[in-house]
Amino acid sequence: MRTLNWSISHAVFVTEIDDEHKGIFDALSEFQRLCDGGGSLPEIRKATERLTTRMMDHFAHEERLMRAARYDALKWHRKLHMAAKWRVESFVDRLLAGEPEAGAELVEYLTNWLPNHTRVADRMMAAALRNHERCMWKVTFQAGTKPARERKWVTVTGEPFEPPAS
Ligand SMILES: [Fe+2]
Ligand SMILES: [Fe+2]
Repeated sequence: MRTLNWSISHAVFVTEIDDEHKGIFDALSEFQRLCDGGGSLPEIRKATERLTTRMMDHFAHEERLMRAARYDALKWHRKLHMAAKWRVESFVDRLLAGEPEAGAELVEYLTNWLPNHTRVADRMMAAALRNHERCMWKVTFQAGTKPARERKWVTVTGEPFEPPAS
């Protein structure tokens, strides 16, 4: 089974997301190395926990960013995360119950799922996040270059806002 290595072909061009993807890819190859090389049970357990924690924290982080940017396809993207979470949990349950083949099946599943999800769903999300950030900068710039009395006030989500008279 090939080992998945992060490369620029997996980039979504949002640094914090790319960094987390690299961490997940690394955790997966460490997990694979231990499963293939007959790592001890405690080592495999630890690597499993590292991999699943990184994945679940990352999913939660992406979902927070999408919510903050009012991303249209959040529901769809969350469903993809949930489906992967259930699959991963079922492999892990079998592995920890003493079925070593479940480790190889988990590696195979994620070696396909991670690049596919990253290149399609995460790239779509990243493009929306970049657009959202650009809009926020524009508002800040316009607001900051006008005299105080002419400034347009907006909330962090871009809604018009009337500041209380001082
Ligand atoms: Fe995602
Ligand atoms: Fe992701």
